[in-house]
Amino acid sequence: MLNVGIVGATGYTGEKIVDILLKHPQVRISYVCAKIEKAQELSEIFPKFLGKVDLVCDNLNVEKAIKSCDLVFLAVPHKISMEIAPMFLKADKIVIDLSADYRLKNIEEYKTWYGLAHKDKKNIENAIYGLPELYRERIKQAKLIANPGCYPTAAILALAPALTSEIVDTNSIIIDAKSGATGAGRKASLDFFFSEINENLKAYKINEHQHMPEINQFLSILASKKINAVFVPHLIPMNRGILETIYVKLNKAKSENDIITLYKRFYKTEPFVRVYDAGKVPQTRNVLDTNCCDIGLKVDKNKKLLFIVAAIDNLMKGAASQAVQNMNIVYGFKEDTGLK
Ligand SMILES: NC(=O)c1ccc[n+]([C@@H]2O[C@H](COP(=O)([O-])OP(=O)(O)OC[C@H]3O[C@@H](n4cnc5c(N)ncnc54)[C@H](OP(=O)(O)O)[C@@H]3O)[C@@H](O)[C@H]2O)c1
Repeated sequence: MLNVGIVGATGYTGEKIVDILLKHPQVRISYVCAKIEKAQELSEIFPKFLGKVDLVCDNLNVEKAIKSCDLVFLAVPHKISMEIAPMFLKADKIVIDLSADYRLKNIEEYKTWYGLAHKDKKNIENAIYGLPELYRERIKQAKLIANPGCYPTAAILALAPALTSEIVDTNSIIIDAKSGATGAGRKASLDFFFSEINENLKAYKINEHQHMPEINQFLSILASKKINAVFVPHLIPMNRGILETIYVKLNKAKSENDIITLYKRFYKTEPFVRVYDAGKVPQTRNVLDTNCCDIGLKVDKNKKLLFIVAAIDNLMKGAASQAVQNMNIVYGFKEDTGLK
């Protein structure tokens, strides 16, 4: 049995990881913690875990966590993981970090976009990006996994086949993204009051969202040249779900069927990427509470324009279930264990 700890267990992603691991036959949740005023049974915080999880959630005690875990999920805001991860890695534990602290290879970019100097430069080099569809073989050997951001997961999976087959103009990428409110975490702020979100739709951080360097870093690797995609996120009055509509010019005359065939071939063996047939378009409700990324494609031959629509659940393929998928790969468990 694998002993697993969750740091940040009272947050949206932490809660989801507990949910998933309770269905995982090879895992025991042996430690939970958060930034908490008074230690409490996790089932007091989440009554749905009554009779299922018998653990007290207190502030982080690294020594205790190291004694009781083989692997830890860090489901904490960025800036915190780089303080915590080195201690677990030094104790030879596996770390899967859901924050942004180990995703960017360029520490100057981290400073620019996250507003502070990185405190753990050594481990950035060793961190493996936790996108199984592209980096499965590296994940198998990983000690530290940088779990991808939610928007980047959908954008990178949506564009990978088009970029690696060099059929698109890499200077023409426009990513129009929409996310439900849980994408920002479970913290009280005016922007996320019901009456601020409900019956409203707004663009925010237009072409200056902190996920842009991550998206551009991995799109550039896929295209083997520098990419600077346009990215416009929107907040929509839903709890969960991300829908990205991507517009990109084709640099070769390609029919819609050719491109759908290319995408289906690229993801042929991938259990969690579903490429739709012609004329069908993903919706967020189709991926809710699943580890799936659904992709739909449309071509305007006259305009030589490719439309790619990708949908994920930001708390699942965008965070918690992808993190568990990575754990399954590291330990050689069947990849969809606990995720079906
Ligand atoms: N939400 C998403 O869709 C999503 C998707 C991909 C990646 N992520 C990333 O995943 C991470 C967690 O996101 P989230 O949405 O779950 O955030 P959240 O709902 O705000 O939860 C954050 C958790 O971290 C705990 N925490 C804060 N400071 C801590 C500290 N110093 N030591 C221990 N625990 C601490 C919080 O405890 P208290 O509640 O007691 O303060 C809470 O349990 C973030 O880095 C986020 O960017 C989130």
